[in-house]
Formats: sequence, C-alpha cells, structure tokens
Amino acid sequence: MTFRNLLVEDAGAVRRITLNRPDKLNALNHDTLTELHQAFAAAADDPGVRVVVLTGAGPKAFVAGADIAEMNGLTPAQARDFSRHGQRLMSRIEQLGKPVLAMVNGFALGGGLELAMACHLRIAADTAKVGQPEINLGLVPGFGGTQRLLRLAGRPAALELCLLGQPIDAARAAALGILTRVVPAAELEAETLKLANQLANAAPQALRGILDAVLVGGEAALDAGLEFETQVFAVTFSTEDMKEGTSAFLARRSPNFTGR
Ligand code: COA
Repeated sequence: MTFRNLLVEDAGAVRRITLNRPDKLNALNHDTLTELHQAFAAAADDPGVRVVVLTGAGPKAFVAGADIAEMNGLTPAQARDFSRHGQRLMSRIEQLGKPVLAMVNGFALGGGLELAMACHLRIAADTAKVGQPEINLGLVPGFGGTQRLLRLAGRPAALELCLLGQPIDAARAAALGILTRVVPAAELEAETLKLANQLANAAPQALRGILDAVLVGGEAALDAGLEFETQVFAVTFSTEDMKEGTSAFLARRSPNFTGR
C-alpha cells in the first residue's frame, strides 16, 4: 500500500506510520485524513501487526494541526464533514483493538494533539510542545479535542488549553496526564520502540481486552464497566496465550505469545 502523505514500514510486528508532509509540519488536510483512515484499517486487518507507532516526519513537528490553508476556504457544511472525517479517524484509532503509540517528536498542536490523544500511549521528546491553539484562529477544536482533553486531563486543563490557546511544554503536559512519558529527544525513537516491542511480545487478545475495557469503562457506570471487565476476563481463559502465560510463570521461563 503506497500513500502520498504517509510512510508505512514494518519492523517485525510493529508497524510505523509516519505523517510525511514535513514542509507543512505534517498538517492534516482532507487527503491525509483519508490516507490515515486507510492505513489504520489495514493495520487493524493485518494479523501480522500487533502494535502501531504513529509519528511525524522532519525535525520540528509531530503534527502542527489541521491544515489551515484548506480550512480557510471551507463552507460550514464542508467544515462539518471535515470535522466528522477527523473525528471518525480518531475513533478508529482509539477502537483499533491493538495498541497505538504516538511518538511525539515535536509540535502536537490542534489536530496534532487530537491525533495523539486518540492513541493509547503518548511518548514525547522533551522538546515537544502540545496545545489546542484553535481559539487563535477563531475556531474550536473539531477532531475531538474538547472531549478527549477533558477525559484525559480534566476540566481545568481542557479549559486552560482550549481557552488560552497557548502551547505547553512536554514536562507540564506529562504532569497534567496528557503525555504518558517524556524522554530526551535523542532517545525518543529507542524508548518508543522499546515499549512497542514490549507490547508486540505481549498476548494480543489480553491487550485487546484491556483496550476495550478501559474504553468502554470510561463512558459507562461503574457496574456496567465492571461487568464488561468480567466478560473480557473470562474470554482470556479461552486463549492458548493465557495457558502459556500462566504456565511459563510457573515453570520460571519466558512466555511465547502467539495470539491464539
Ligand atoms: N496548517 C497548514 N500549514 C501549516 C500549519 C497548519 N496547521 N502549521 C504550519 N504550517 C505550514 C506553514 O504555513 C509553513 O508553510 P510555508 O513554508 O509554505 O509558509 C510551514 O508549515 C512551516 O511553518 P512555520 O509557521 O513557518 O514554522 P515555525 O517554526 O515558524 O512555526 C508553529 C511553527 C507550529 C508555531 C506554526 O507553524 C504554527 O503556529 N502553526 C499553526 C498551529 C495551529 O494553529 N494549529 C491548529 C490548527 S487548527
């Protein structure tokens, strides 16, 4: 599968998707959103892919936002479609059923932060800056930013970032819970791939159960979330990987998870 605005490469079971419009700081235009939809659908369908790493090309940016030049000419009806196109992509990533790591190599602004927040883990360079600067353009976030930031970091952070539109540095974003981990820029790739490989060696169906349970539970009453967790827990007992993981522990050896 080849794309105009993405690079896709595999290393073992880790698929790396790189947004590749560095001259526009990897801004998300309509075509790039469409390509991301296709790339994530392909990653979901490919049993050889256990983990996805998403990053941006070039030294400056993960993604500097939705494409402002393209948005400048949109009618309200087109803007509604653009928002839905972006929101569906974020939901597709969130619901992929395989862990997705955002490797935040620089600016993650607007749609860039929304994209990173749809990923399950966010590993950032200490030089990265994140924010929701849409207010400075007379806009509101349109790819889920108001909702996912609220859920990730609570009302104070969501209101501060969206109302003031001022990017914050990676250390503060981690302290607010927006970033999972911050590492020196020179170590970003190695640290991210270390985590990706750890996840690639974990039991895929158990990973999926955790992803699903946390996602469902985030929107459910506690009893409903607990019941969902029980069902997911029980399903893992039907897998060979559960037998392998528990047997390996008892035999004091490393498990070999096959995905069955
Ligand atoms: N949409 C479209 N193009 C963008 C963009 C975006 N969100 N962000 C950056 N670009 C383009 C610039 O227009 C410029 O293109 P040009 O060289 O053809 O003029 C190129 O990317 C480089 O950006 P530039 O602004 O020159 O880089 P910088 O290092 O001076 O500043 C930022 C970096 C991130 C501070 C600045 O680009 C910026 O504020 N971007 C917009 C952020 C934003 O508001 N995002 C939310 C959008 S809803």
